[in-house]
Order: sequence, then structure tokens, then C-alpha cells
Amino acid sequence: MTPSQRTIGVVTGGGDCPGLNAAIRAVVHAAKRQHGWRVIGVSDAFCGLVWPEKCRELTFESTRGILPLGGTILGTTNSKDPFAFPVSEDGRKAVHDYSGRCLEGIQKLGIDALIVIGGNGTLAIAERFARLGMKIVAIPKTIDNDLQRTDVTLGFDSALHIATEAVDRLHSTAESHHRVMIVEMMGRDAGWIALYAGVAGGADVILLPEIPFAVDNVCEAIRRREALGRTFTVIAIAEGAKLPERDASGKPLPKMQPGQAGNSLAQAIRERVDKEVRVTVLGHLQRGGTPSPFDRILAARFGAGAVELAAQECYGRMVGLRGDKIESVPLAEAIEPVRLVDPRNEVLCTARAVGISFGDAA
Ligand code: F6P
Repeated sequence: MTPSQRTIGVVTGGGDCPGLNAAIRAVVHAAKRQHGWRVIGVSDAFCGLVWPEKCRELTFESTRGILPLGGTILGTTNSKDPFAFPVSEDGRKAVHDYSGRCLEGIQKLGIDALIVIGGNGTLAIAERFARLGMKIVAIPKTIDNDLQRTDVTLGFDSALHIATEAVDRLHSTAESHHRVMIVEMMGRDAGWIALYAGVAGGADVILLPEIPFAVDNVCEAIRRREALGRTFTVIAIAEGAKLPERDASGKPLPKMQPGQAGNSLAQAIRERVDKEVRVTVLGHLQRGGTPSPFDRILAARFGAGAVELAAQECYGRMVGLRGDKIESVPLAEAIEPVRLVDPRNEVLCTARAVGISFGDAA
């Protein structure tokens, strides 16, 4: 096949985020306008390679108007790893390795190179496929912002806008009612959203998975504010923040269930401080809706950059933002380890400097 007849595939995997459609559109436009390539949209993450008949060609017409749309027109899943694909057999759960079917699917679809738009999980799968010979170029996306070798991932900025607006809105109602308002944000392993939205919205306390905290210190921050006449406190907590098992006096703290960070903390505070406490869990609101202008531009740059890498036959690599430039890095270096908030992170140190408490355990 000559370069002028090339076909590329584009796939979105893992949790969705604002900006995916903008990236798909950029891939289609750059591939067609710069190189005259065909583009196949692979449906529902790697499921589309297992069932190639579900995939379709993407054209200018079929991608018209999608730039500001949230979600992904290709569909996605974060629970169907092709190397351990969950199936139901006679009502029993089993897993199969469908990676061979995916490699066959690529052949059937006539795809020469695949652009994979994903976060940690999806790009780890893509990296395994790259080792099996699949020609892969990756685009980093996740609201969690926890991939290595890029300053920022697609979707983070949009989620940050949503979370910051929530902190702003909770401030006024917290103040009116003299309450403690806890807002739980996404971030299983890394607390980037809670840190940035907490600073942007002026939260009084920020609790991250990366910084062990003591409930007594959170309560102390609330009391300190009361003593200064500030009768309300806004707390931003990442969903992955861990409540310790006991407080300073040895009293057991509520057992933290997955997805219960905010509510567990609220219960612990209520038992120790005589204040009304309310909890808002932002959840998937952070992943929905239109992308921010920054994410739209990033999507265009990542999409065009990924097509350029495919044109140069630089496979097994991921585009990333470094300063004001789009660069590429080996895919394997992007996925491990998860990029956590460093305790010396400049934004974190700034937050401390302006008086935000992290409830530090030590
Ligand atoms: O990885 C992105 C993310 O939004 C995490 O922040 C969150 O823990 C997870 O996905 C939620 O996944 P699901 O959509 O399966 O609930």
C-alpha cells in the first residue's frame, strides 16, 4: 500500500471527557487535508476491533459540528480489556484474551495505523498492542491529569472549570448558612483536580490522596476560622483521599468506602465539631459537557500532532504538551508510574503559602 492510499483508525477508550470529539475531528481533518487518508472510527474502545462490522468511516460530513460536543461519537468503555475480555458463559462470568481478534480486526478494516485516545488503562493496552506489532500513536486524555510526560492531559482543564465553579457556588451558600461544605472531586490516585480547583476557588482545606491527613487537623482548621469570625469552611476533597483509621485520641473514624470520601469525612467532622456539614459529590458532572477553549485547542494540536507522527511512521509514541510545544515520547514512558501530585509541587506550596490547610497528618 502506498502512503497516498493509507487508512488510519481512531479509537477512544476509558472514561470519557470533554474534548474527545474535538480530537477526533482534528484527526479526521488533518489526515484528509494533509495526506488524503481514509479514517475509520473504531467503536466502543477496542470492542470495535473485536467486532469490526461495528466500525465506520469518518468523513468531513460525519464529523461536522462535533467540535464543542461532550462525550465521544465513537463510544467508549473502561471495563473491556481485550487481553482479559469479560464475557458471560452460561450465566457465569469468564474472561477471554481477544487480543488476537483485535489484530485480525485491524487487518479486516484495512487500518495501517491506529490513533488511540486514552488515559492510563487504555494506553497500557495500546502499549501491549504496540509490542505485538500494532502501529500505534497515542493521545493523552483523562480528567485526572495523571499521565507522565505531558504537562497536561486532554479534558483536565474542562473538568477544572466545572469543579472551580462548584467551589465558587458552594462558597455563597456555605457562608449564608454558616456551614462546613465538603465538595468531593474525581481523582482516584492523583489529586490534581482537587488541588487546582481548590486553589482556583479559594477552598479553606484541600485533601488529596498524596497527602495523608488527620481529621483532628481538619477540625482544627474549621475551629481556627470560627475564632476569626469566619463561620463557614469549604473543603475540597479528592475521591481517592484516605481517611485514617483513628483520630489522635484513638477514636475510630468511619470506614471509608470507595466513592464515599466526602461523606465519610462529613460524618467524622460532625462527631467532633458542632457545625452543620453538607456534602456535594461532583462525580461524572466533571466529565460531561462542552470542552473549554483550552481543551479544544489542545485537542486540535494533539490530533494534528498524532497524524503527523503517523505520517512519519513514528509508532509506539504519544503526543504530549511540553511548555508551548507539542512533542512526542515513547508510549511506555507515559503510562507508568501514575503521575501524582508531588509534595513539593509549586501550586501546592503556593496553596500552603496563602493559608490553605492540607490537614497534614505528620
Ligand atoms: O479516570 C477517570 C475517572 O473519571 C476517575 O477520576 C474516576 O475515578 C473514574 O474515572 C470513574 O469511572 P466510572 O465512569 O467507571 O465511574
